[in-house]
Amino acid sequence: MLMQDALNGQLNAELYSSYLYLSMHAYFKSVNLDGFANWMYYQAQEELTHTMKFYDFINQRGGKVKLLPVEAPPNEWGSPLTVFAATLEHEQKVTVLINELVELALAEHDHATNIFLQWFVSEQVEEEESVGGVLEQLKLMGEAKGGLFMIDRELAKRSPGGESAEAE
Ligand code: FEO
Repeated sequence: MLMQDALNGQLNAELYSSYLYLSMHAYFKSVNLDGFANWMYYQAQEELTHTMKFYDFINQRGGKVKLLPVEAPPNEWGSPLTVFAATLEHEQKVTVLINELVELALAEHDHATNIFLQWFVSEQVEEEESVGGVLEQLKLMGEAKGGLFMIDRELAKRSPGGESAEAE
């Protein structure tokens, strides 16, 4: 079934997102930017909740979950700026995937799946906004070390289920 395969594919993409952000968390820990690491830790956790939403929905609809191999993320990152540029690029790709799922649901007149996906449509707007906000600050800061530590302190405020104070 086309929709079931597509939902299983998205489950995999969300799990990859978690893996990707975990690799970014490990990078930030390795360079002692604990606030950035904190933000990525909760970002990785949030992607696991997205994964489980797809997992639960497939089961709830009487479908069959199919777990696919999860691709390895890059394990080397050059700077906080390149990490957040890659994060925004990744979230923009996820937005395209979600939009394609919505289009498939509409084409198949699958109203239940369409309603389920609407939460993700809104979520992607928030994701791109919060990631884009951090990226803009990193760009403005340039080479100034003081700015990096200021952003690090802000990102340290993110808690489970929440964004940093700035992104609220
Ligand atoms: Fe699950 Fe960040 O999209």
